[in-house]
Amino acid sequence: MSLRAAPPEDAAGLAELHAAAFDKPWSAGEIATLMATPGVFALTFDRQGFILCRAIAGESEILTVAVDPAARRGGVGRALVEAAAGLSARNGAESLFLEVARDNVAALALYAAAGFEEVGLRRRYYASGADAVVMRRALNS
Ligand SMILES: CC(C)(COP(=O)(O)OP(=O)(O)OC[C@H]1O[C@@H](n2cnc3c(N)ncnc32)[C@H](O)[C@@H]1OP(=O)(O)O)[C@@H](O)C(=O)NCCC(=O)NCCS
Repeated sequence: MSLRAAPPEDAAGLAELHAAAFDKPWSAGEIATLMATPGVFALTFDRQGFILCRAIAGESEILTVAVDPAARRGGVGRALVEAAAGLSARNGAESLFLEVARDNVAALALYAAAGFEEVGLRRRYYASGADAVVMRRALNS
């Protein structure tokens, strides 16, 4: 298994992974635009999943993470989050933040297992009406 930085040319492939994971997928163009934004980096894992992060001004944020349904529960999500945490720290971030829907059991379990703690709640944040949980992991330890 191999984890690597995703170049801008990968945007279409990342959009396919995103579409397989979310009801409201981001287009290849939207992902390419994000990838060109200062501080944003993308990592992929054998085309089975990817993570997009923005590390800027001492903080980093997971913008999205998606794993192909056929590849889930194989450690891909965990590997992507750990790699993003490591790269964020090397880019000077002291904290890694994310938002996750309160009803997203798999993602909440992944983040809890990866050492994230709940630091806030955004009520009815998503179009579905679900609340967003804001989570943080310290990167200085
Ligand atoms: C959330 C997601 C990225 C997890 O990816 P994954 O590769 O299946 O996760 P991993 O195999 O690395 O799982 C790591 C740990 O997370 C937890 N976990 C993952 N999926 C779980 C599930 N369906 N139910 C319960 N716990 C789960 C477990 O603790 C797991 O460790 P274990 O397998 O040793 O028990 C994947 O389910 C996904 O793409 N979901 C749709 C997109 C999404 O919701 N992204 C997050 C938005 S905030």
